[in-house]
Amino acid sequence: GTTLGASAAEQGRYFGTAVAVNKLSDSTYVGILNREFNMVTAENEMKWDATEPSRNQFNFSAGDRLVAHAQANGMRVRGHALLWHQQQPGWTGSLSGSALREAMINHVTQVATHYRGKIHSWDVVNEAFDDGNSGARRNSNLQQTGNDWIEAAFRAARAADPGAKLCYNDYNTDNWSWAKTQGVYNMVRDFKARGVPIDCVGFQSHFNSGSPYPSNYRTTLQNFAALGVDVQITELDIEGSGSSQATSYGNVTRDCLAVARCNGITVWGIRDTDSWRASGTPLLFDGSGNKKQAYTAVLNAL
Ligand code: XIL
Repeated sequence: GTTLGASAAEQGRYFGTAVAVNKLSDSTYVGILNREFNMVTAENEMKWDATEPSRNQFNFSAGDRLVAHAQANGMRVRGHALLWHQQQPGWTGSLSGSALREAMINHVTQVATHYRGKIHSWDVVNEAFDDGNSGARRNSNLQQTGNDWIEAAFRAARAADPGAKLCYNDYNTDNWSWAKTQGVYNMVRDFKARGVPIDCVGFQSHFNSGSPYPSNYRTTLQNFAALGVDVQITELDIEGSGSSQATSYGNVTRDCLAVARCNGITVWGIRDTDSWRASGTPLLFDGSGNKKQAYTAVLNAL
């Protein structure tokens, strides 16, 4: 193939990007999006603060615009994210205990129901594990409603949209030897053993000097897949430039292709200037929309 999406499709995979809906009026941006990608993730527009700004008052307008763009251009949609400790609407701050639990499950049910049939995979829960060496859950307001909050969310999402793959998504879970990776692995193994409806694990894969691309990344993907879940690379960006950055991008791509249950790769933005990172050049296209060395490395690996 001559584009990321077409080449990935030849391998039975997708190639996606995060999209900021307000950039759909930028012709350079949309030109690259429509040419190269066949999966999209809303960068912010399907998060809790965007979709439920007041309790039980939903606003799907921006997310719906992205779904419409995807459907009109033959792209599929990753849903991101039903529950996360960040980007919650202010009103959740006054809730705790059973009231927060009820609001949380209602949010999952309403959003997954609205998008039923339109989502390839949902990040049902995002970033629920602690950094550092504990391998434990993050102490969030959601965690404080009870350790079973994650499985309750997955069951609610399955009931609302039985056709979507349901994913757990996190960062710093790429290196097999890290405690956080093991914590997530143990949760997924337990969920599979007990019949909690989980279908996939998302590896954000934000690589930088503190958490570089690890040489055991393929091992991590393989070990999770062996639990009976699909694996997806969901928010890829790699700090750096030139040939070292390109090499890491190529390695990530080859690692996904080496794992049968690795469904696809999503980068977290199109041009370097679209990145959520305050500085640096972590993406596949430069600020003018030109293909970088990293782009060529990915295309050649596909
Ligand atoms: C980021 C967006 O890119 C930014 O625009 C926003 O200000 C903050 O969130 N992990 C995730 C994503 O799961 O939702 C985050 O996206 C990046 C880190």
